Parts: sequence; C-alpha cells; structure tokens
Amino acid sequence: MNILFATSEAVPLAKTGGLADVAGALPKALNKRGVDTRVVMPKYAQIPPALLGQFEQVAVFNVAFGWRNQYCGLLRAEFEGVTYYLIDNERYFKRDGLYGYDDDSERFVFFCFAVMEAVRYMDFHPDIVHCHDWQTGLIPFLLKTRYFYDPAWAYTKSVFTIHNLKYQGLFGVEHLQDLLGVGYDMFYADSLEFYGAGSCMKGGLVYADKLTTVSGTYAEEIQTEYFGERLDSLLRYRSGDLIGIVNGIDDELFDPMNDIAIDVPYRNSLSRKRKNKVELQRELGLPQSENIPLVGIVSRLVEQKGFDLIMATFEELLQEDVQFVILGAGDERYEHFFNDAAFRYPDKVKVWIGYDDRLARRIYAGSDMFAMPSQFEPCGLSQLLALRYRSVPIVRETGGLKDTVRAYDEYNGEGNGFSFTNYNAHDYMFTVRRALALYRNEEVWKQIVNNGNKEDYSWNRSAKAYISVYSQLLAHREEKESWPVIL
Ligand code: ADP
Ligand code: GLC
Repeated sequence: MNILFATSEAVPLAKTGGLADVAGALPKALNKRGVDTRVVMPKYAQIPPALLGQFEQVAVFNVAFGWRNQYCGLLRAEFEGVTYYLIDNERYFKRDGLYGYDDDSERFVFFCFAVMEAVRYMDFHPDIVHCHDWQTGLIPFLLKTRYFYDPAWAYTKSVFTIHNLKYQGLFGVEHLQDLLGVGYDMFYADSLEFYGAGSCMKGGLVYADKLTTVSGTYAEEIQTEYFGERLDSLLRYRSGDLIGIVNGIDDELFDPMNDIAIDVPYRNSLSRKRKNKVELQRELGLPQSENIPLVGIVSRLVEQKGFDLIMATFEELLQEDVQFVILGAGDERYEHFFNDAAFRYPDKVKVWIGYDDRLARRIYAGSDMFAMPSQFEPCGLSQLLALRYRSVPIVRETGGLKDTVRAYDEYNGEGNGFSFTNYNAHDYMFTVRRALALYRNEEVWKQIVNNGNKEDYSWNRSAKAYISVYSQLLAHREEKESWPVIL
C-alpha cells in the first residue's frame, strides 16, 4: 500500500501545532507496519539547515494554475525510515512564518497543484493521497476534476482529515476561480461555494473518498450546529464516510526517560520528576520547592483553548498556594493578560511568549498539573504529552479531551485527570481547586499519576485504524469510474 501524506507542516521539519506532530508520527507508525507512507510539504525558510542539508533535488518543473506558471523544485530525503518530499518555490515559502500572509490562498493553491504535478517525478505511485486541513483540501477536488484521467493519478483514492474545522481557508469566489482556472460551475453549494465565499476546506469535505477527524467525540460534535462551523449539514450528509480516529503521540520523540531537554530522566518515579520541577523553577526565577503545586500551560494562545475561563479565574486561583507557568503565542489580549499577571505575581506566575520546543518539554516534565479547558478540541496532543510526562491534565470534556482524559473518581480510584462538562469559568475553577486539594494527599496523587501510567498513548491503536480505512477504500477502487468528470 502506498500512501502520500500531503500536509502544510510536519515534525521534524516545521511545526506550529499538533498537525505537525501527527504528520511526523503517523507516517513513521504506518511505515513500521509495512505501509509505504511518504510526506510532501512546502520547503519553508524555517526548516533547520542541518535537516535541509540532507535533501537532494529530484526534479525541477513548472506548475500551471489559472493563468500562472510558476517554478517548482522537488527535493527528497529520508528521516527515520520516512521519505519526505519538499515543494520548493521561494516566492511562496521563503518567509519567516508558515501562515497568516495576504496571499495564503495563492500559496496553498500553488502547493496543491504542485503536489499533483510532483507525483510524476516521485518514482512512487500513491494508492491513496491523505490530505490534512484546508491547506491541502483542494487536492481531493483536483483529483476528481482536472486530474481525473491523469495516468500519474490512476486509481488513486483520497482521504481528508479534519484537524480543526474552524480554519477553513475561505476566500473570494472570483479570486479562487482565478487561481484554480475554473468557472462558476465549481462554485455551487454542493461544491466549493460556502455562504458566498469559496472554501478550500470544502474541496476536501465534498470530494475526498473518506473523511476522518482526530477523535470519535469530535466526529460526533461536528455534525451538530454548535460545533459544526456551518458545515454540519454537509458532515451529516457524509456521515457514512466520516470516522473519528484519536491521535497518538510519538513515544520515542517524547520520552521523559530519554529527553535531552530535561534535567533528571524519569519514568515512574514522582520524586525524580519533581527534581525537574525545581530545575524549572530555578530557570524561570520562581521560588524553588517540590511541594508547591505547579500548573503548566503550553498552547497556542487562542480562544479555542479556553483562555477566557483561565483569565476569569486566574486572580482567584492565585490566592492559593500554587505556581503557573505558561508558554504560548497568539492573540495579543491573552499575551498582555499573562504578562501583566506575571508582573504582579512574580513569585507565582511565569510567562514565556513564543514558540520553544525545549521549554515546552521542560514544562511537561516540571509541572504537576496541565490545564487545557478548551472550548472545543478536535483531539489535543498536549494533554497526551502531559500524561506521558506524568503531569495530570485538567480539561473540559470536549472532543479528544473527553476521549483521552477520565476524571478521577474517589470512590473507585480510577481516572487519569480532572475534567468538567460545561464551558463555565467557575466549573473550571472548582476543578482546579479539587486537583490542588488532592495534590496534598500524596497517596491519592500517586494513584492518579499511576492510572495515567498504565495507558498507551502511542500510535499503536490508531495506526491500525487508519490502515483499515485505507484498506476499505482500496477494496472499492473501481468506484472511481462513477464520478462525473469536469476537465
Ligand atoms: P493545536 O494543534 O490545536 O495547537 P495540540 O494539543 O494538538 O493543539 O498540539 C499542540 C502541539 O504544539 C503540542 O505538541 C504542543 O506541545 C506544541 N506547542 C503549542 N504551543 C507551543 C509553544 N508555544 N512552544 C512549543 N510547543 C508548543
Ligand atoms: C488541531 C487541533 C488539535 C489536534 C491537532 C492534531 O490543531 O486543534 O486538537 O490535536 O490538530 O490533530
């Protein structure tokens, strides 16, 4: 089975969030199980030079889309058994960041067309192209239209994974028409049109052969109006092809026993873990003590992650004997809030604005608890990383948080974390207080941490679920012929 992952980010090359973790770890897990899975992504300026140096150029060709005709280089390298391809065009991708530019539409439409062309030079015929989020949503669309009869894509099926339904890649209809070189006939409600705009996400949702999302609960939630981002009716329509598969983490890359970012390696020993807390406190200039509970947050600072609940209760929770360490970047209002709190409570709050993989690992290792009261959460990898580093997650019961964290139950001693149901600041606060109170009971705390230890958060289970999705698709390959063709 040959699978081509088309993604806008992947570890170890470029990362802004969980998508990169998934696109790095899942192909590795699939390859280990005998599925030849390769990854194609843009060649960003951000890729570390040491890794970039290992790529060799495979081809140079032109990519025609709309009236444009652009240079494209294709590079190739192998890391830990996974082949990575890079799509090179400096005009589009040699920039400081990954997203958030005025011409993101053109950059990622180019990327989609470039992937369609690049396959000719890969020496690899994908049975399935597996696309992720809006940046690659137009690939399933192109496969069912312009490239339908192209021998480079003969018999290829597509899978589209929704990592976050909120980010849809919406642009003006005429602008997308111009980029794609298609007419209004592609912009009806049953194709790329979305309430008067053109939607890249719909390219995946309408045209992919199978849809997946990153947890069972989120798969259910997005079929409701509240979580559906105005795409719920389409998702209900396609519910027969939609499956939720919970993410795993790369347990080799994230292993407290073998992590150069942390000071004292540990696995089950809480006392060794707490030495990492003292080191973190020392590094950040907090009072050093193994006994003060330390709550960690590593996150994009966006509304999705529940920061409104955290802000509303921060002052009150700071009256407790507790320390907070926050690492993140995003909305200015949250950055200002936390900077201000750190200024006013220098002994209790430390904030680092930015993206920092080393500090993230030190926070997972050094914190006793990890707060993630998300408004919605397709899966969430941070709570899994927290569990892996024995930091007890405090979450809201939504999406993948609900599927991976079970609230501690005093009566039967089960549960690996703390959770609450409603998106309500006081429910969050009481849940944190409960965690702080139980932290004082050493026996109970050990039990909660140990309950987390028993579980497997790696890709073992979910890699198999993806293989089963791919196998189902390949069993019905001839169905491709039944699609209407628009050239
Ligand atoms: P999302 O993808 O919605 O941001 P996830 O929980 O799925 O949320 O994944 C977030 C990933 O990004 C985790 O690996 C987390 O450790 C990492 N991360 C988030 N913010 C930062 C940051 N500021 N610095 C370092 N790593 C971060
Ligand atoms: C998105 C979601 C997050 C998920 C990640 C990887 O960024 O917000 O919940 O874990 O994708 O699938």
